[in-house]
Amino acid sequence: MEDRILSSEAENTEEQSFEQTLRPQLLETYIGQDRVKSNLEIFIQAARNREETLDHVLLYGPPGLGKTTLAAVIANEMGVNMRTTAGPAIERPGDLAAILSSLEPGDVLFIDEIHRLPRAIEEVLYPAMEDFCLDIVIGTGPSARSVRLDLPPFTLVGATTRAGAISAPLRDRFGVLSRLEYYEEKDLVTIVERTSSIFQTEIDREGALEIARRSRGTPRIANRLLKRVRDFAQVRAEGAITFPIAQESLELLQVDQLGLDHIDHKLLRAIIDRFKGGPVGLDTIAASIGEESATIEDVYEPYLLQIGFLQRTPRGRMVTDKVYQHFKLEMPQ
Ligand SMILES: Nc1ncnc2c1ncn2[C@@H]1O[C@H](COP(=O)(O)OP(=O)(O)O)[C@@H](O)[C@H]1O
Ligand SMILES: [Mg+2]
Repeated sequence: MEDRILSSEAENTEEQSFEQTLRPQLLETYIGQDRVKSNLEIFIQAARNREETLDHVLLYGPPGLGKTTLAAVIANEMGVNMRTTAGPAIERPGDLAAILSSLEPGDVLFIDEIHRLPRAIEEVLYPAMEDFCLDIVIGTGPSARSVRLDLPPFTLVGATTRAGAISAPLRDRFGVLSRLEYYEEKDLVTIVERTSSIFQTEIDREGALEIARRSRGTPRIANRLLKRVRDFAQVRAEGAITFPIAQESLELLQVDQLGLDHIDHKLLRAIIDRFKGGPVGLDTIAASIGEESATIEDVYEPYLLQIGFLQRTPRGRMVTDKVYQHFKLEMPQ
């Protein structure tokens, strides 16, 4: 897979610590996602009034939309600490047991990429989520026996980019399921303006709008593009970000007006030029552009589907007339 300015995953630890400084701490400062926020607000308020822990929450949606941020916001709003781990980091049931038994009452346990928890570990989680206890087997062979350990009550917040990959028994144990959506342009403008003020960088509305428009509905990409545009503005325009500055620097980064880059172009042009616009099977497209089918499906395709550039049909992928318009090409008959 190629490096890409429009990748929706955090690229490296430097980007992760940069993002850390930009995370809103409260529901009030968490921008957009109004439906998810107003639900959570009610559940949090109710749990606080009853002095109970919040129900377990599953957050799902594409990378970069604010799942990790929201998990921390939930812990903050509940006034508790958050422990963070990830599905692939928990290898043995004992790893999970150690984490669970070290929680303080009411804590949030955040498990990122929860769809990658091994099945044997999921099974440790079931009684922990339902009854706040652990069933531990002591000894081996005929003398083995199971003991039940009580745990402090806690809230599990799980995050996943692939809700479909979570087993039904695990999914059923979450009281709150929240799907994060791609952000509207106006919300991305607010995010870009907020980040600029943290950077102490001057930006006007048109400049912010231009970055928002090319950010693929994704705060992570908006913040990353802003950072690059800021560099450009510093060198070329004494620091202030305006529409022409944003436009010129994004052109240089080869991010087009809809937030598509050379990889999107390559994929769409392949379907048009080699397969008459489709329908064509995913594996055939993958072979023709030298990519893995799974990469196309998980990384390249979701945003193109979202903006109506690609369609999934039973016979494969098809480009829509919007793509011909975007490339200023004649539609075939
Ligand atoms: N609703 C939001 N408001 C403001 N910034 C956000 C919001 N959601 C995400 N961000 C920013 O986008 C970046 C990526 O968010 P993150 O929570 O790591 O996404 P995910 O965990 O879904 O991949 C972070 O720097 C975060 O500050
Ligand atoms: Mg995350």
